[in-house]
Amino acid sequence: MTRTQRPQGEITRGTTAPNRLRRIDRWIAATQRQALRAVPGPLAVDLGYGASPITTVELYERLRAVSPDLDVTGIEIDPDRVARGVAHLAAHPRPGLTFRRGGFELPVDRPPVLIRALNVLRQYDEPAAWRAWDGLRARLHPAGVLVEGTCDEIGRRATWTTLGPEGPRTLTLAAHLPTLERPSDLAERLPKTLIHRNVPGERIHAFLTAFDHAWATTSPYSAFGPRSHWIAAVRLLATTHPVHTHPPHGAHPRWRLGEITVPWPTVAPR
Ligand SMILES: C[S@@+](CC[C@H](N)C(=O)[O-])C[C@H]1O[C@@H](n2cnc3c(N)ncnc32)[C@H](O)[C@@H]1O
Repeated sequence: MTRTQRPQGEITRGTTAPNRLRRIDRWIAATQRQALRAVPGPLAVDLGYGASPITTVELYERLRAVSPDLDVTGIEIDPDRVARGVAHLAAHPRPGLTFRRGGFELPVDRPPVLIRALNVLRQYDEPAAWRAWDGLRARLHPAGVLVEGTCDEIGRRATWTTLGPEGPRTLTLAAHLPTLERPSDLAERLPKTLIHRNVPGERIHAFLTAFDHAWATTSPYSAFGPRSHWIAAVRLLATTHPVHTHPPHGAHPRWRLGEITVPWPTVAPR
């Protein structure tokens, strides 16, 4: 970006909170290591970090544990929020962590192996969200991944998609199980590209309906706790719903955390 170019995008609400993105970060650290270590000197971008730089700092701490030479750049379109990030770093310097003003054009010096954009696109309209997906994945390193999604205020309910340079790959739903009544409660946290598609005739609607059905059928497992109930429902779903042609990823170690990840064709808009 030159000095005269405006960053691409709009300043939107800056709501954020410590640990809000913990589920997403842990999932990235556990499942995306290959991308995070794809090149020497890998770069991760946190796009739209909000009113405080805290979730970018947390991303840096969590991902450096699995990719020790990872650089992390927090990008914000609001200059006041960038100033807050820079001031935070001056007080608490961390090698390889930077904050910078910018937008969807991503003002960085090399293609990122990871772009995390959480709670950013929800404030755009659906066509703009699709355009942002296309623009961001075109800026990835060939081995890189875009993680785009939404969560509630304290991160108890979250959904996110992954995209490679070639297009969307997966959708993940994750919940704090003791406070979840049924899987479709997560519908209100769907990414912008899916939230308006949760209507009869669309795959995401069929998927959530089948998940609720599996949840109801396996309700006796709740006697062993919400985690057992979730695992039983995911197992049943994998054998009953059309999802069986695209079985959930991750298996037991991820499911026990209240997650399910399905391939994009399971939920892709028609
Ligand atoms: C709701 S906050 C999300 C903060 C943090 N990612 C989180 O999930 O807690 C969204 C932020 O994204 C920023 N934003 C929106 N569009 C952007 C764009 N195109 N480029 C950079 N930042 C953007 C907004 O200014 C706002 O601060």
